Amino acid sequence: MALCTLREVLDHARAGGYGVGAFNVTDIEQVEAVLDAARRTASPVIVQTIAGASAFASDELFWDLLLRTVDHYEDVPVVVHLDHGPDAETCFRAIDAGFSSVMIDGSLDPETHQPMSFDDNIAVTLRVVEYAHERGVSVEGELGTIGGSKDGATHAEIVLADPDEAAEFVARTGVDALAVAIGTSHGAYKFTSPPDSTVLHMDLIEEIAGRIPGTHLVMHGSSSLPAHLREIINAHGGALPESWGVPEEEKARSTTLGVTKINQGMDSHMAYAAAMRAHLASTPLAADPAPAASAGRTAMSDMVAERMVVFGQAGKAADYTPVVFRSPAALPR
Ligand code: 13P
Repeated sequence: MALCTLREVLDHARAGGYGVGAFNVTDIEQVEAVLDAARRTASPVIVQTIAGASAFASDELFWDLLLRTVDHYEDVPVVVHLDHGPDAETCFRAIDAGFSSVMIDGSLDPETHQPMSFDDNIAVTLRVVEYAHERGVSVEGELGTIGGSKDGATHAEIVLADPDEAAEFVARTGVDALAVAIGTSHGAYKFTSPPDSTVLHMDLIEEIAGRIPGTHLVMHGSSSLPAHLREIINAHGGALPESWGVPEEEKARSTTLGVTKINQGMDSHMAYAAAMRAHLASTPLAADPAPAASAGRTAMSDMVAERMVVFGQAGKAADYTPVVFRSPAALPR
């Protein structure tokens, strides 16, 4: 199994001057879509998932199947990452399940969804870093508040990251990677017009990167929200509002400014949903959902492969010698 830590893959990306997409998955055929795309383009890749967001009733079952699926891709360097862990206990569960990387999102209080104080964010992040690093697992923290909805239930307002706080946060927690709020939002509704520097603060990336050179920067909310996919979804019963995401060229540019991890979920899910809705509409007599899910998987895989070329990770698995990560908690499975 080529399971790698986030630190290892992102260090390689920085040395090679490219970015690595972290693609959100909520079902097993989506894991296959991402790993197939990585294999086809010879890319290292980050597969990430949010606790409670999968199609499975049990996180532990989904996570175990996810890790077993990675076993089938020995040639692909893969990080299995928990996205937006809401509290330390959820991060511990993912680490115990065998994840090689976790994000602790101490930016928002998990109960009230209000911003947490800087010191409370540091305290919970430090608890996770201590537990994770003892086990060889990487940690991503978050500073500022990325807008939009992570779980579909809430809608956070944007609070931009502060470079001074970023330096202090990293010094006090020792995180491997830091999600920095630069004006992006999660989900299918982001900008009301094509974003410019008044809403998408690319300059902040460079400023923060200069302050924390040993820590990787993560761009969340990076989906581009392709209009043609929204049109297919809406032509088949959807009602997604018009919205603009992060242009592909800005994502590519972010990797020259200091970003090494690019989080993208909505673009993949729009590709999947558009193909699935179109397939279901074209086969009114079909009852088996598998062919529609298969159409979704293929469309998602193609989308992810395209993005891997844009981010620069395509072709980089070839010169990659992963130090295979084996979580003591995860063995034997
Ligand atoms: P999008 O919602 O823009 O795809 O971003 C995903 C993300 O940042 C997950 O953490």
